[in-house]
Amino acid sequence: MSTGHGSADVGPAAVGSADAYMVESPVLRTFIGAVRRAMADEPDPSRRLRRLRPAFAELLADQTWLPEELRQPYAASGMGQGIGQYLVYKSASGDLSLSALVLPAGATTPVHDHLAWGLVGMYSGAQTEWVYRRLDDGGDDGPARVEEVERRALAAGEFYELLPPEGDIHRVRATDDGPSISLHLLGNDVGCVWRHRFEPERDLVHPFRSSYANRPCASEPG
Ligand SMILES: [Fe+2]
Repeated sequence: MSTGHGSADVGPAAVGSADAYMVESPVLRTFIGAVRRAMADEPDPSRRLRRLRPAFAELLADQTWLPEELRQPYAASGMGQGIGQYLVYKSASGDLSLSALVLPAGATTPVHDHLAWGLVGMYSGAQTEWVYRRLDDGGDDGPARVEEVERRALAAGEFYELLPPEGDIHRVRATDDGPSISLHLLGNDVGCVWRHRFEPERDLVHPFRSSYANRPCASEPG
């Protein structure tokens, strides 16, 4: 894993009605600008994602902009096992976020959904992903049935699309000797919205909010 972070700095956590950049980097600003233009020009999520693929591939390939502070496991994680979800950027309205998910070696996320269009890609390390689909009527809390539909290995630079309900439920595991870091571009404030955590072995679903390691959600004590 590269440890360089170039000219990037961890930015001030501006709270309120402005866009929040937790990392100050021209690379990041350029990328978010391209995403905002695609959102304005392309209402169809599938076409928007296709248009964003080259810019996302470039962001994944550039090891200069993500600071060391946002590459660390996080002991107080909402996902357990030291998994750190760090906010990198979110829009004032909550219609777009970019976050970095750090999985210590061997850690596995809960089975969870995202509830928004997005791109998820490996920034460093490697992961295995299990994709599920829901078989019941979609309740938020209580009995739920999901089945595994796909399993894939992801190496650095590889990424996939989320277009709910397609591919929206998954679990990922770090499969390298070291931590893995994936970048999540999502059309919502994914760390702060209420979504779902599944227990396939027990046929249960629970309300789930992952939170960010580096910024409280609006309804959390700061
Ligand atoms: Fe996920």
